[in-house]
Amino acid sequence: MGPIGIFDSGYGGLTILEGIRNRLPQYDYIYLGDNARAPYGTRSFDVVYEFTLQAVKKLFEFGCPLVILGCNTASAKALRSIQQNYLPTAAPDRRVLGVIRPTAEVVGQMSHTGHIGVLATEGTIKSESYKLEITKLYPQCTVIGQACPMWVPLVECGEFDKPGADYFVKDSLDKLLAQDPLIDTIILGCTHFPLLLPKIRRYTPEGITLIPQGQYIAVSLEDYLHRHPEMNQRLTQGGTTQYLTSESTTKFRESASLFLKENITAQRVTLN
Ligand code: DGL
Repeated sequence: MGPIGIFDSGYGGLTILEGIRNRLPQYDYIYLGDNARAPYGTRSFDVVYEFTLQAVKKLFEFGCPLVILGCNTASAKALRSIQQNYLPTAAPDRRVLGVIRPTAEVVGQMSHTGHIGVLATEGTIKSESYKLEITKLYPQCTVIGQACPMWVPLVECGEFDKPGADYFVKDSLDKLLAQDPLIDTIILGCTHFPLLLPKIRRYTPEGITLIPQGQYIAVSLEDYLHRHPEMNQRLTQGGTTQYLTSESTTKFRESASLFLKENITAQRVTLN
């Protein structure tokens, strides 16, 4: 038995942790941020796979029977290989889930025009994972992606609420909407982006629905645990959260406390 592991390249997955904990506060959680090597968004498939697998192994070492890749880039580039190539032989009794499929499931029901925009890292957009997952479920939908290469650095550096961020937020939104004026629903396909939500709202025309992921991932996880009682029974329920980081714990504590608006302590781990 053990806690639910949540992994992200940096701090962004804290928005997923928050969404999940709000809905499922009874479980124990371990959050792991690979802050020393973030961002992942511009890294190659091979490197994201290698780093993500190291993180998953670390969370397994800490006893997690279930790990959520709370990172779109890792979900896009590493999840399938981990599920198909690593788990069956190395850890057949553990599960790793991602954040793209659950988001794709809800978005098709929300759009009236069927034109869906995706804002994400370069890696997630290039992988076309959202387009593939959404059109598999909703073949009538058109999916348009726009990479936002500056948004993750703005969040990681704590500049997300400063005036300088406005330029980059407006620029990427304008580029997305210029590609297709029928877009009526936009997925914030990167777990860092909810931190920029006030600015994203400011520059999004009225009538367009924005989809941050945390709450939908929580609903999807709850549903998964109902459908998989054998996994649910293996999850400890003490309501605690432990934080791990590959960077300095002081830096992690300061930044993560801003994200979660609570005091936290973290433990440093080496990923290799
Ligand atoms: N938070 C990650 C995501 O959801 C990406 C951040 C990064 O580039 O490392 O895609």
